[in-house]
Formats: sequence, C-alpha cells, structure tokens
Amino acid sequence: MPVPRFPADFVWGVSTSAFQIEGGTSEGGRGRSVWDTFTATPGRVARGENADVATDHYHRYPEDVALMSELGVDAYRFSLAWPRIQPEGRGPANPEGIAFYDRLLDALCEAGIEPVATLHHWDTPQALEDDGGWLSRDTAERFADYAAIAGERFADRVKMWIPLNEPMVTSIFGYGIGEYAPGKALLLDAIPTAHHQLLAHGRAVAALRSAGARTVGTANNHSPVRGDDPEPVEFLDALINRLFADPVLLGSYPEVLHDRLPDGFADDLPSIAAPLDFYGVNYYEPMAVRAPRSPGPLPFELSPLEGFPMTTNGSPVVPDGLRELLVLLHERYPDLPPLHITENGCSFDGIHDTERIEFLDAHLGAVHEAMTTGVDVRGYFVWSLLDNFEWSKGYAPRFGLVHVDYDTLARTPKDSFAWYRGVIERSG
Ligand code: FCB
Repeated sequence: MPVPRFPADFVWGVSTSAFQIEGGTSEGGRGRSVWDTFTATPGRVARGENADVATDHYHRYPEDVALMSELGVDAYRFSLAWPRIQPEGRGPANPEGIAFYDRLLDALCEAGIEPVATLHHWDTPQALEDDGGWLSRDTAERFADYAAIAGERFADRVKMWIPLNEPMVTSIFGYGIGEYAPGKALLLDAIPTAHHQLLAHGRAVAALRSAGARTVGTANNHSPVRGDDPEPVEFLDALINRLFADPVLLGSYPEVLHDRLPDGFADDLPSIAAPLDFYGVNYYEPMAVRAPRSPGPLPFELSPLEGFPMTTNGSPVVPDGLRELLVLLHERYPDLPPLHITENGCSFDGIHDTERIEFLDAHLGAVHEAMTTGVDVRGYFVWSLLDNFEWSKGYAPRFGLVHVDYDTLARTPKDSFAWYRGVIERSG
C-alpha cells in the first residue's frame, strides 16, 4: 500500500544518539559515561562489543550530514553527550565538547537541516553515577546546570529540544533489571529514579526556556499493553506508559505507584508538569502481559506476543499498535500538545531491505490513520540514519537506512534510504 499524503509542513526526520554513533570516547576531553563502564564490564554486552569507535561519527559527521542532505530530511534528531560537555557531570563546559557540537550544528544549518537535540540519551557521566546517579535527587539539579549550558551555547541553532530520551528505559532496564547501564537490579525499588528523571526534565525545561529555547518537548517510549487479566495489564500500563506521561501531562502519578515514590514527591509535580510545545513518542512494539504463574516480587509477567512477523531483534511487527497508541494518548490526555514520532524503526539485515520498507510504509500508514481520526501529529523520525551500537545487543541489530561496514566504516545507503527519500519528496 503506498504511503498516503501528509500535510506539506509535516516534519520528516531521522534519529540517532551520541553513544550509539559517535565513537571518539577518549577524545576531545570527553569524560566517562555509565555506558563506557558498562561496556567495559565482561558479560554485559553481546560479544564483548563496545562503542569506542562505533560508527566514528565524531570524525565522519560531515559525511553523515551529506547523507542526510541526499536523503532530503527536514530535521535531524541527535543527542549531546553530557560527558563531552561536562566530563564529570558538573562544573564549567569543556570547550572541545562545545566545539564539536558547534561544528555539527553549523554543518546542519548550512545544509538546511533543522537540529533536534536530546540532552540525555542514557550516557550519564560516570562521576555522577558514583554519587548515586538517578537514585540521587542531586542528579536532577546537575542536569539543570547542564541544560542551561547547552541552552546558552546552542539555542540559537537547535530547533527542538528533548531533555531526556526514554527515561522509562533508564529506570527499568538500567536500575530495575540491570540489562542496561548502570546495571542495577533493584526491581520496583528503582522507581525513585523515575521521579528524579522527571524532576530533571522539569528543571531542564525551565533552564532551556530561560536560555532562549523556543520549542521544548519530550521523547517517551510507549507500548500498548495487551492481556486478558485486567490487574497486570493496568500495572504494566502504569509502569511503562503512565509513569512518565501522567506527571508531565496531568501533573499526577498513577495511584498504584504512589507508595514507591520518594517522600514529598507531590511538591515537585508543578515543575514537572510545565507546559510543553510537543510530546515525542517512540514506538517499536506492543507488549503482552499476564498474572505471574508463581509468586514473585512483581505483580505481572510478560508473555510473548504471537502471530506477528519478527525483526532480527526479536520484536513483533505490529503497525496498528502505533495507531492504537496515538489514539490512546489523544484520549487519555486532554491537554496533549502536538505529537512527533521521535523514533520508529526496525532491525533487518542487508542492503536490499524490503522488510524495512514494508515496516516503515505500514507504520506511516498507521500514523496517517490516527491523524485522520483527529490526532495532531506533526512529524516522524526514523530510527535510525545509520546502523549503530544497539546497547547490550552490540552491533548485530541493524536499524539504519544506511549500512555501516564496521571494518572499514564505509557507509552504503540501503534500498529503504531511496524509498524514504521518495516519501519525503512527495510528502507521502
Ligand atoms: C530505543 C532507543 C534507541 C534505540 C532504539 C532501537 O529504545 O531510544 O536508542 O536503541 O530503541
């Protein structure tokens, strides 16, 4: 099915993140992040892979900007590495870190591509983690300082700002089950990290606005939750969909999570709920859940979602889940700002990636369908421009529109690159 026509001012983009593409981890005065520590810890990442070189974007960014020009995107979503800007997570800005992002932003502006900057895509400075990381309220205050520096230096060129990418993943995968950095398995005792990240979001929104940022939003991941038992469905929905959205969009937390939050959390809600200019949605797949088969610390158990094609990363391909999700957000939050799909994509191998074209085509169709039923979606960012370091799975999952040969670092546009260029050209 051909992708239907989108409004002429719909924003077409691609997304990446610093740790996944930059490499150059010991260059330019960059400090260590929790992901440098995690990748250096045996057994944490598949095949012992690390991101010391990644796609070498730190040196090859001009080539990557040229690829984006060829693709014809309106906007590029990337992240600033906090440990490049503040190597120890506090104190004055590192001039070489600032200079790198100055060069990148200038190259983007010259190419007529609007920069969309995320401040935290999981690479917290290790020095802050050593002081408690997101379990500590102080990290939110440090984040506000970092946001102020980024705003002062870059607000003249950055078009849209996203303080934190998918804070749910940091809380649950990083502190809850330990599959991601910093590798802690605190289960539901990780929930204070959610509150501190939300506070960091609120503080950063204020700091960015005072520094002159005009368009500030979010990038939260969401998954429609499926299952026959209402209690586990409600609990998982609260944990993965509402924990980060309700405080921002309603100024409240889901009731089932109240007794896990730090004392006095309600006092922070007004700053967490400061109005936003857009709400970013990252969507990959729905989740299925059931009551636990045997007693354990969690009131639910994940169950496999069957009957769908799978990506090489083991994700079921469910385009209608995106439509369902957009409609659900629209119905759940009366003051929902305009939406952007800040990430959507899939891992498939090969340069002739028909499966990726089909995936993107079907998901764009789902976005369009949601728009025709009244959901205000303003943009769509494919994850990802390039194949990159996929966290604890290393380099095996390939999410790029552009193939990266990890021996030579050569970039080769895939069939999906040409297809997406056509979609952008025709706006659908
Ligand atoms: C998202 C992350 C992004 C990438 C994709 C596949 O959850 O934000 O960095 O890993 O998944």
